[in-house]
Amino acid sequence: MKRLTDTVTFRHGATIKTRTAQAPMLTNSGHDEKVTQDTIDYYAARSQSAGMVIVEYTSVSPNGGPSRSWAPDREQLALYNDDFKPGHEEVAKVLKKDGNKAILQLVHSGREAAYRHTLGGRVEVPSLIDFPWIDYPLYELSEDEVWQIVKDFGTAAKRAIDCGYNGIEIHGANHYLLQEFFSAYSNRRTDYWGGSLEKRMNFAIEVSKEIFKVVKEFAPDDFIVGYRISPEEIHGDNIGYTWHESQQLVKKLTTLFEFDYIHLSTLDYKSTPNDSNKTLAELLGEAVQAPALLTMAGGIHTPEQMADALNYMDIVSLGRPTLIDPQIAYKIANGKENEISLTFNEEAVNLSKLTPGLINLLPNVPEFRMPGIDYLKELATDDLGTEVTHT
Ligand SMILES: Cc1cc2nc3c(=O)[nH]c(=O)nc-3n(C[C@H](O)[C@H](O)[C@H](O)COP(=O)(O)O)c2cc1C
Repeated sequence: MKRLTDTVTFRHGATIKTRTAQAPMLTNSGHDEKVTQDTIDYYAARSQSAGMVIVEYTSVSPNGGPSRSWAPDREQLALYNDDFKPGHEEVAKVLKKDGNKAILQLVHSGREAAYRHTLGGRVEVPSLIDFPWIDYPLYELSEDEVWQIVKDFGTAAKRAIDCGYNGIEIHGANHYLLQEFFSAYSNRRTDYWGGSLEKRMNFAIEVSKEIFKVVKEFAPDDFIVGYRISPEEIHGDNIGYTWHESQQLVKKLTTLFEFDYIHLSTLDYKSTPNDSNKTLAELLGEAVQAPALLTMAGGIHTPEQMADALNYMDIVSLGRPTLIDPQIAYKIANGKENEISLTFNEEAVNLSKLTPGLINLLPNVPEFRMPGIDYLKELATDDLGTEVTHT
């Protein structure tokens, strides 16, 4: 029987001290896409939040972000050139100080890179489609430009290694470019990058191939590599893919490459698809080829839910709970689960070192509801609207 206090050893030898991960979460703290003091304070407070802390989505290409932003000092982070490295070195350092692992999530934000348009750049997509909710121009990538982004993922991975991260996670979830290529709704191409399920997998496969090439050459032997995926993309009549197809992608990725883990992105770890009684965790878990492990985020918030979630996965991935209490792994490891804070209040907010960007963002996004959010609302200084839905 799996316990939260177990040590987990990944296939390449890295170990984490509890079966916990901090799910990647935008801190809304970048300035000119660079790490700021707010970013560092937030991560320094999280050196004991989980066995591995997955740092928020960081863009690999100049047009890979930033996604929506309301103020120039509240941006998505980047790592597409060396100028970004000092800030990330600091983030990796503060996260590792208590022996937990620091993982960086790498992304190209695709059509979600709205703020790149505001800054005068172009927003890149697999296919030019009239997305009803998008009110800025989109640019369809050429075949060669897609290859350049594949290279960008590799170069950013090299920088992450240089910065001292213990691993990287490829962000293939939540409607960003990797998912857009996998989605039959967003990808209508007929070249190497689209046209059939097999070809819609090519971008994920080529990015993974490039990343593993760089990791084998430059990273320590126990470097951790994960891949994040949303189990399904279904919006009414628009079906990007179902779990039947994501099962095939996960199987392929974990057969072709030595992924340490697959990370599912949902809002409810017990959710089931329309056509099965099994949970998505079980269905996707069946596709993960050992020794790759499975982790998943989505409503795993209380100690009871964490223990229950281990029936479905190897490592529990905790998003919002670590915003409220940044010492969850420490408390689990020391038999103090009952002391985990589950609601925002004055003490929790003081300890949690939330960035001003998060304090202003969280009360405005209905999907991110959390106990005590009204307390946070009192601290918010401006109304950022409700635009961030995919992160
Ligand atoms: C403020 C915030 C920012 C997020 N940013 C990211 C991100 O950068 N990358 C990502 O893959 N998911 C992101 N997510 C999704 C979380 O990783 C997680 O999947 C989601 O919050 C569900 O888990 P939870 O119920 O434990 O919060 C974000 C979620 C929140 C609340």
